[in-house]
Amino acid sequence: NTDPLVIFTPSGQRGHFAKGTSILDAARQLGVDLDSVCGGRGICSKCQVTPSFGDFPKHGLTVSEEALSEWNAVEERYRHKRGLIHGRRLGCQAKVEGDVIIDVPPESQVHKQVVRKAADSRVIEMDPATKLVVVEVEEPDMHAPTGDFERLKDALREQWQIERVEADLNILTRLQPTLRKGKWQVSLAMHICHAGGPSRILDIWPGVAEQGLYGLAIDLGSTTIAAHLCDLSDGAVMASSGAMNPQIRFGEDLMSRVSYAMMNPGGDQEMTKAVREALNGLIADLIKETDIPPERLYEAVIVCNPVMHHLLMGIDPVELGQAPFALATSDSLSLQASDLDLLAMAPRARVYALPCIAGHVGADAAAVALAESPQSSSDLALMVDVGTNAEILLGDRDGVLACSSPTGPAFEGAQISSGQRAAPGAIERIEIDPVTKEPRFRIIGVNMWSDEAGFETAAAATGISGICGSGIIEAVAEMRIAGLLDPTGLIGSAEATGTSRCIPDGRTHSYVIWDGSADGGPVITVTQGDIRAIQLAKSALYAGARLLMDQRGVDKVDRVVLAGAFGAHISPKHAMVLGMIPDVPLDKVQSAGNAAGTGARIALCNLGARAEIERVVREITKVETAVEPKFQDHFVAANAIPHASDPFPELSQ
Ligand code: FES
Repeated sequence: NTDPLVIFTPSGQRGHFAKGTSILDAARQLGVDLDSVCGGRGICSKCQVTPSFGDFPKHGLTVSEEALSEWNAVEERYRHKRGLIHGRRLGCQAKVEGDVIIDVPPESQVHKQVVRKAADSRVIEMDPATKLVVVEVEEPDMHAPTGDFERLKDALREQWQIERVEADLNILTRLQPTLRKGKWQVSLAMHICHAGGPSRILDIWPGVAEQGLYGLAIDLGSTTIAAHLCDLSDGAVMASSGAMNPQIRFGEDLMSRVSYAMMNPGGDQEMTKAVREALNGLIADLIKETDIPPERLYEAVIVCNPVMHHLLMGIDPVELGQAPFALATSDSLSLQASDLDLLAMAPRARVYALPCIAGHVGADAAAVALAESPQSSSDLALMVDVGTNAEILLGDRDGVLACSSPTGPAFEGAQISSGQRAAPGAIERIEIDPVTKEPRFRIIGVNMWSDEAGFETAAAATGISGICGSGIIEAVAEMRIAGLLDPTGLIGSAEATGTSRCIPDGRTHSYVIWDGSADGGPVITVTQGDIRAIQLAKSALYAGARLLMDQRGVDKVDRVVLAGAFGAHISPKHAMVLGMIPDVPLDKVQSAGNAAGTGARIALCNLGARAEIERVVREITKVETAVEPKFQDHFVAANAIPHASDPFPELSQ
């Protein structure tokens, strides 16, 4: 290559560039971490670099002063106005003329954190919809009279290619003093619309603002709500917080909440109020934890299922309770945060809600698709977002199918006699010895097994309080492996199983995992009712997956991805022993963590991802489990552990 070679330090990234390419452009093309908030206008000085001249035998280079273009008027003006450390250049102004080595000093690095897609390791670049931009505005001219706002819009068009800019009255009232204070240079918090709508000025400061802009990625589930506060300059998660969805008091699952809205006049509004209050509470927690003032929170991205979506928006979900399950709108929504009463945010903060896929398949499934990209998978992947409602995607490059399945809250530890949220003190792992039938377990917050020396002392601080979602799945699967349960899910008696831990409980039996009653602690058992709740949940999940496999015309998938707030903690072996997921080699069961939350973060950090997911959602084939007669057949057959008829050859290995 005859073009000059540019080597960046300390990263070592290098490439050949045509003469005349700016150092900032070269850095961008190579993915070098070099800051810029003025779009290369020589205004912000964030792009400062230090070129090195002389002999560099290590690189086989001799770099002369001519390797870079001479100081230009913009750099001169900057140096004159604000000063520049000796030896530094503005990366947006200095152009490549020969082979050169460029050092990026720490203050010019943004330390961009990229959100990585687990499935294909694709990196999501930071290009958030809400960002800080610095512009230089023409001064007014008596002979060509235009308004200051019109000249600001001209500057945004020319310097940032941002068209159709709107600002509300509050911004307009602050505009003139701010422009003059900043000597015709201002920083704006801009919200860019990707769908042809207007871009909005959310805030304005004189000069180059040092303020950070922050956003929220929110996964609003039927049972739990998770929120991440992210720095919009580099994507870093500053804090995360979670809470129970207070709508639980109106109904544990989605359909009971829809029924509540149907039966109680104003019931939908009560639920809307409850969830909005919960979101404000979560945001307040994040603000407290990070000390980031609410007025710096400029955007929230929300993913949720259709019923949660409608209730959050204040739309009566009654139509979602009956065929044909029509959504009020399935498109993505861009709203003002104050429309949703999210008051612990900046006054003009925006909310983006991902599109819903269908009446029962929500934006949370869309977010999983965004995070895991089934549409670009080369093998057939089954992706399950495990929650109170399981969102299931099956697909590859040839197409993606989606459905949702009402698993109920058992997997989240609700409806389980000793169930609880995944919090310190909850049993999260359990093994049962197949010979002695004795359990050993681990609790969250204590880094050892219950049969290790010192466990009780270590557990004294948290206590042993209950069993969480991943714990109950393991408990039921281990009980089956140890012969405490028959294939229909019936717990055996002490005589039949050979352990006194199987105690009578009414007309059925329970298995005692932990008896803390001597010290006034809880007795943690798995009851017959718990087993039934898990059977219902896992049958619904498996039936949904099988329905999609039927539609696709396959009886096997290549891999399974378990997602969801606790999907990451489910042991693949135990999920398969239960028959939650179809049989695949165990090493083909991957965990994607909270993929819906990751999808929300991707949409928060990358504008292009919003357009992408809106396109993908239009192409997904929706399958409605509620009206598919085969769903019921699959559900009944899946009630057995692992299954009444489907083979699980991988389990016998
Ligand atoms: Fe702002 Fe170079 S990018 S001064």
